Amino acid sequence: MKYFIGNWKMFGVPKSISIINKINFFVKKDKNRNKYRVVITPPYTLIETFAKYFKNKVVSIGAQNCFHKDLFSSNTGAISPYMLKQIGSKFIIIGHSDNRSEGDSDQMLKNKLRFALMNNMKVIFCIGENKKQKKNKQTFSVLKKQLLGVLEKKFNKNNIIIAYEPIWSIGTGMIPGPNDLIKNTSFIKKMLKIIFNSKKTPPVLYGGSVDSGNIEQFSKINIIDGFLIGGASKSSKKFIDIIKNYYR
Ligand code: PGA
Repeated sequence: MKYFIGNWKMFGVPKSISIINKINFFVKKDKNRNKYRVVITPPYTLIETFAKYFKNKVVSIGAQNCFHKDLFSSNTGAISPYMLKQIGSKFIIIGHSDNRSEGDSDQMLKNKLRFALMNNMKVIFCIGENKKQKKNKQTFSVLKKQLLGVLEKKFNKNNIIIAYEPIWSIGTGMIPGPNDLIKNTSFIKKMLKIIFNSKKTPPVLYGGSVDSGNIEQFSKINIIDGFLIGGASKSSKKFIDIIKNYYR
């Protein structure tokens, strides 16, 4: 099973539901529909109405982040995993580099992940090296630290998805070469086997400048279990073309 997950970031108003509607319509009649799953993560403001509308449809709705405490608290502007679950969020992105750069520590991410799992959501946990770390050949040590700093054996690995997003590739149009991608994805899976003490690992997605033009290169690399798509997920045509070209 492959994943195509759209991360809308700070994009969307109520009428943007038409974008997901078109994607849902395509997936429903796609001959390859049993091979993949589509998730869209709109901003907090749209989750409830979208989740209601897309309930029992082929597209699932998720959140892009959450606060690192659960239930209710006195943190102004904060939204807990419990609150997201109550309005129909099935998935949740945690550890995106945007949020890490705003101060999310490993301890905060661990709490977010723990509470999201407690609320029965599937977590999309993002990791990835920056340009300098790549240049200094620190990619493996960075990925290892990010995985070991947050994941624990006792977490339900069936509800965890890893998204490998090299920071230098996000929104830049630059993508890793196939050898690097295979090497890094294999390394992540090796680490996951150790952490969970299991042969079967959570899926490992790739994210960073994925579009309909470069998806065919990724489709040849079978160890990649899917994609986290930012910019190209805001257009139904671009997003659908990614799926079409992947299975071409
Ligand atoms: P991008 O973003 O596809 O626009 O590079 C990916 C992401 O940030 O998840």
